[in-house]
Amino acid sequence: MGNIKSLQWRYATKKFDDSKQLSSEQIAILKESFNLTPTSYGLQPLKLVVIQHKELQEQLLEHSAHQQQVVTASHLLVICIEKNVNSEFIKQNFELVKDIRETPEKILKPFREFLLKDFKNKTDEEIKIWAVNQAYLALGNLLTVCAHEGIDACPMEGFNAEKYDEVLNLDEKNLQSVLILPVGYRAEDDIFADLKKVRRPMEETIIEIKE
Ligand SMILES: Cc1cc2nc3c(=O)[nH]c(=O)nc-3n(C[C@H](O)[C@H](O)[C@H](O)COP(=O)(O)O)c2cc1C
Repeated sequence: MGNIKSLQWRYATKKFDDSKQLSSEQIAILKESFNLTPTSYGLQPLKLVVIQHKELQEQLLEHSAHQQQVVTASHLLVICIEKNVNSEFIKQNFELVKDIRETPEKILKPFREFLLKDFKNKTDEEIKIWAVNQAYLALGNLLTVCAHEGIDACPMEGFNAEKYDEVLNLDEKNLQSVLILPVGYRAEDDIFADLKKVRRPMEETIIEIKE
């Protein structure tokens, strides 16, 4: 399928066929796509929780405004932000760059010092907003990959993040849930599948500036 065709094919799936499961190969593609998402400064202040556990999905239903997608989906993905984006976290990222690229310390040092200072000047709230922005980017990336792979998905912020954190013990992992993405196969009787796409006319959403 071409890019536009697959983006038209996808829709926010409200009802999944719960008799169908995604293969481990399909899930592997989603995991890798998440990890390949570009992030600000390459710091990846994110973690993805991949749930394939019906009982747990049912437990999370009441914390998801009773949206059935959470239960009928093959897998429930939870995009989380790291709560400990501190000096240690930043330094570890530079160690990773050093290991993978063998970049000399002389080149890394000024950038590391700049980042450490930059983040020291940010409030916790500012760092959280910055990290949440990266979570949304990962969601967008996953949605596009799902569309290309023929995987149905529903992007969701309609859930109680605090309750998710509690049920999934995210706090002790220094994580906070930000977005959820049930994935799987659309149910044949999901009426939303056949609805026309509603988008503002492109003349209203795009400005072209030409010479
Ligand atoms: C960040 C975000 C949060 C959303 N939250 C929910 C949600 O909690 N429940 C839901 O059914 N749909 C949710 N949606 C789906 C949107 O309503 C849907 O993507 C939009 O209406 C466009 O329709 P389409 O995705 O079918 O093209 C969300 C979408 C985004 C991007």
